[in-house]
Amino acid sequence: MDKDVPTTREVDPAAEVDAAVKMELDTPPAPAKPAAPPKPAAESVTLLPTFRNWSRYIQKGDTVLAFMSPSNMDHFVVTESGNFNNAYGKFEHAKMVGKEWGSKMPSTTGKGFIYLMYPSPELWTLALPHRTQILYMPDIAFVSSFLELKPGVKMIESGTGSGSFSHSIARTIAPTGHLYTFEYSQDRYQKAAAEFKDHGLGDLITIQCRDVCKNGFDMENAVTAVFLDLPSPWEAIPSAKKAFKKKRVGRLCSFSPCVEQVIKTCTALKEQGFVDIRMYETLLKPYEFRSLTMKPLPQPRLAPTPTIKVEPSISSTTAPDQNGEGSNKRKRLSKDESGVESESKDGSGEVYAPKDVVVTKGASEMRAHTSYLTFATLLPDIS
Ligand SMILES: C[S@@+](CC[C@H](N)C(=O)[O-])C[C@H]1O[C@@H](n2cnc3c(N)ncnc32)[C@H](O)[C@@H]1O
Repeated sequence: MDKDVPTTREVDPAAEVDAAVKMELDTPPAPAKPAAPPKPAAESVTLLPTFRNWSRYIQKGDTVLAFMSPSNMDHFVVTESGNFNNAYGKFEHAKMVGKEWGSKMPSTTGKGFIYLMYPSPELWTLALPHRTQILYMPDIAFVSSFLELKPGVKMIESGTGSGSFSHSIARTIAPTGHLYTFEYSQDRYQKAAAEFKDHGLGDLITIQCRDVCKNGFDMENAVTAVFLDLPSPWEAIPSAKKAFKKKRVGRLCSFSPCVEQVIKTCTALKEQGFVDIRMYETLLKPYEFRSLTMKPLPQPRLAPTPTIKVEPSISSTTAPDQNGEGSNKRKRLSKDESGVESESKDGSGEVYAPKDVVVTKGASEMRAHTSYLTFATLLPDIS
């Protein structure tokens, strides 16, 4: 199953000409359009490597993530006279300059607000332009740990897709590691290459436009980790084996949605001498949480307490409580539902005040399967 977003569609040229002719016959002549106003010249802006260098305050040229809600984010580059627009109004770039990352900014109409967020790989994954299906944080974190990624690691990835995985990996292996990423779609290759450059990741990521299943990686004795997110990863495994450093332990991971792909990949891994072949699936169980005000508990109806006559001498020696009053004088107060404090009415003297508590509930169903993660190890050549 190919889970890529299709970039081409099959068209019958003859049918297209027919349709165009028909449209011309059916459609009344359009009224002459007034001349479009001249477009303002595009503002030139030097992009800052926001993804690489963190600073406390937003500057012109920074990439900003506009956070509306956890499921609604967008991104833009801050320019001198640009605006970010959404359903709640206009947000002027010029007013963002000098604000701290994470600031809340109202729209010019005051109808809504956004948070100006630093583009961490975690947030970028949620806001990036989708050109393909992508990896999300639970899988990225799991893969990074199993591939033993850390600063200085040199690794291979294919396909690059929308660059979600690549952005996280670049941060993990920086500043001395390197990611070699391969993508066979010319369009996706160009877009990802431009993004890596604009985001200041050019020295950490090398991207090539290449069909790795047909032509391999053309690398030898170079990396310690390989990550495959391809429709037929088993075809790339012999070439991946060559790319591993001979005297080091090599770790490979393949991400596939179908178990048939996993079976073919495992067979190829075994044939190529990989060991410790295991398959995992990461499922996310979201917890909902909210703050509740618990109502006072009903008072237990106990047998009446025998009345004890308190001698005045004992009463006067009662130690003062925290309020500086003798405990026999203290009035117990409770808040009723309107929040007004009132004296306890149950006669017991005990008060069960309403309490603010945070409660959580695990989702009864987990989000559907994304992909299976097949891991394998290539042992060093000790001959
Ligand atoms: C699902 S996407 C990868 C998404 C990526 N992991 C991410 O997180 O953004 C798979 C990519 O592999 C590319 N691809 C498929 N077969 C390939 C091949 N033989 N060589 C190189 N790239 C290939 C596709 O064009 C597609 O962009």
